[in-house]
Amino acid sequence: MDQLTEQREYYRHRAGEYDQWWQRQGRYALDEQAREHWFADIDEAAQTLDRFRPEGDVLEFAAGTGWWTERLTRHATRVTAVDAHTETLELNRARTGGTGKVTYVQADIFDWSPPPAAFDTVFFSYWLSHVPADRLDGFWQQVATALRPGGRVFLLDSYRPERIEGDLQERVLNDGRTFQVIKRFWQPAELESLPGWRLTAGVTTHGAVIHAHGAPDR
Ligand SMILES: C[S@@+](CC[C@H](N)C(=O)[O-])C[C@H]1O[C@@H](n2cnc3c(N)ncnc32)[C@H](O)[C@@H]1O
Repeated sequence: MDQLTEQREYYRHRAGEYDQWWQRQGRYALDEQAREHWFADIDEAAQTLDRFRPEGDVLEFAAGTGWWTERLTRHATRVTAVDAHTETLELNRARTGGTGKVTYVQADIFDWSPPPAAFDTVFFSYWLSHVPADRLDGFWQQVATALRPGGRVFLLDSYRPERIEGDLQERVLNDGRTFQVIKRFWQPAELESLPGWRLTAGVTTHGAVIHAHGAPDR
């Protein structure tokens, strides 16, 4: 299995347990202070997104189970939520279907190219870190193509202050199966100097989340 297939498969099998990590349940539980910091950082990142105001037509790459899709629907007229798996999109639909604003698209992001140039915002959370180095240029080109003139991008991801050698991580499912995923931790300065983009990046108070927003330099 190649690396991208293994990563996709991992997330298909993880769909039903993904929210346990996000909500810090079960084996992802944190001690009281770490838990407080985690949720404070998520809330801070969500408020940053609210201030960005992702209005109009929003494209969400790797939408997953819909935590951020729901947040996007508070501002957007429509959200197009793309994910590789019907398993994650069904969970997303259960969370966001009631808004009537979301179109669910099951597709491999790397094959969904060129995207329609139809969006005011392209949003992706916990996705950029999973894009392998040799796909980055193509992915950012896809984002630029998807934006209407004046359109903007907003991203969120996991943050680590130190540069970690190697871009692969081993992940374990609740049943013990292991998979390798690509995980590249970005620094704000790297995002702010990305060729072809004018991005402003930041990190939440307790260091859990990196976020960036901006527009293509064109
Ligand atoms: C870390 S999760 C993030 C989910 C969501 N953005 C969030 O923050 O809750 C990564 C998501 O990417 C999806 N994914 C993985 N590889 C993909 C691919 N090649 N094309 C589309 N989606 C993919 C997975 O199914 C999973 O939902």
